[in-house]
Amino acid sequence: MDTPFVFGKIAKSENFTDRERETALLVTNFRSLINTIIISPRRWGKSSLVSKAAETALTGKSPLRICSVDLFNVRDEEEFYKLLAMAVLRVTSSRWEEAVESARRFFRQLLPKIVLSPDPLNEFSIDFDWKELRQNPEEVLDLAEKIASEKNLKIVICVDEFQNIAGFDDQLFFQKRLRSHWQQHQKVSYCLYGSKRHMLLDVFTNPSMPFYKFGEVLFLEKIDTGSWKSFICNRFSATGKKISVELAEIIVRLADNHPYYVQQLSQQVWLRTENSCTEEIVKQAHISVVEQLSLLFATITEALPDNQLNLLRAMVAGEEALSSNEVLTKYRLTSSAVVTRSRKALIEKDILDSKAGELSFQDPMYRYWLEQYFFK
Ligand SMILES: Nc1ncnc2c1ncn2[C@@H]1O[C@H](COP(=O)(O)OP(=O)(O)OP(=O)(O)O)[C@@H](O)[C@H]1O
Ligand SMILES: [Mg+2]
Repeated sequence: MDTPFVFGKIAKSENFTDRERETALLVTNFRSLINTIIISPRRWGKSSLVSKAAETALTGKSPLRICSVDLFNVRDEEEFYKLLAMAVLRVTSSRWEEAVESARRFFRQLLPKIVLSPDPLNEFSIDFDWKELRQNPEEVLDLAEKIASEKNLKIVICVDEFQNIAGFDDQLFFQKRLRSHWQQHQKVSYCLYGSKRHMLLDVFTNPSMPFYKFGEVLFLEKIDTGSWKSFICNRFSATGKKISVELAEIIVRLADNHPYYVQQLSQQVWLRTENSCTEEIVKQAHISVVEQLSLLFATITEALPDNQLNLLRAMVAGEEALSSNEVLTKYRLTSSAVVTRSRKALIEKDILDSKAGELSFQDPMYRYWLEQYFFK
């Protein structure tokens, strides 16, 4: 039997829960061509949400087209333009001949090479001469707008893992370039999302940055306990197994409502449950998830300098006044300036998350591992 829980994949249909408000907001923004920015730590469900909203927004006959560009593996501008051009051509053509025809018509300076691909998921791929492209990137940046105007379409371009542009050469210049074209588009809107909160906050909310006030910013939260409890109980009963609401709640608490971990832990519990779940099964499953991760956690931890480690120790112990003299002495933190620096470094490493000045661990399993295995 297929397990009723998924993790590490886009959560769709019966695997998707909650997010009604966010989905409705995104659907409205997609249909009204309002630019949207979604920010959350890793694995909280951005990609799943966008996919769900896109599916909903596309129901019925409409001139709306939604395409996505995933920057996960993209290292430079050139690769970005290639993916963007390909995504736009694909979503606006029903056959590959039509895509080739569009490429011929809409590119004036650039003469892209379009190759029919043997991969059935990607019907074709596109290649530009980098020198030409560097001189005329606007042809790619404005491609969607031109096609949308001509074919009477509305296009939403979703760019996933947007934080990866930080690795491009001269990213500020690149941002200026994108913004100057994209803000003029009338028939195209953008949904940009990613996970480095501090970096994306700077890109989208710093008045001196090109993307300042580019669109509505949505900070995605974790999924609340109530939704998780009914989701877990339903998924168990749909597969002929039983779990009580109380045990479902324990799963959610152990995973700290973190979408990926709630699903992973639920799956481990489900696999161990023959008919009816017990507290012992939940405990075992939790230990198993943490132990699977312990090598990874050990590697992360070994690379941390003493001050950062000491700060984590203080946090795990539940200390709140991290810069107080008492905490500084107790955890051998050299000075409050060191605390500030370590804190910043740990946020940049995605170990801690700071929201409205409040610090928390991004990964609930890591926090547990530190507490129960490492600092013990
Ligand atoms: N709405 C949801 N309902 C149920 N499970 C979800 C939901 N959203 C996310 N998840 C769980 O979290 C996992 C990660 O989701 P997703 O890949 O959408 O997050 P993400 O924020 O895009 O992650 P990343 O930062 O790694 O790109 C999914 O595989 C699934 O297990
Ligand atoms: Mg994602």
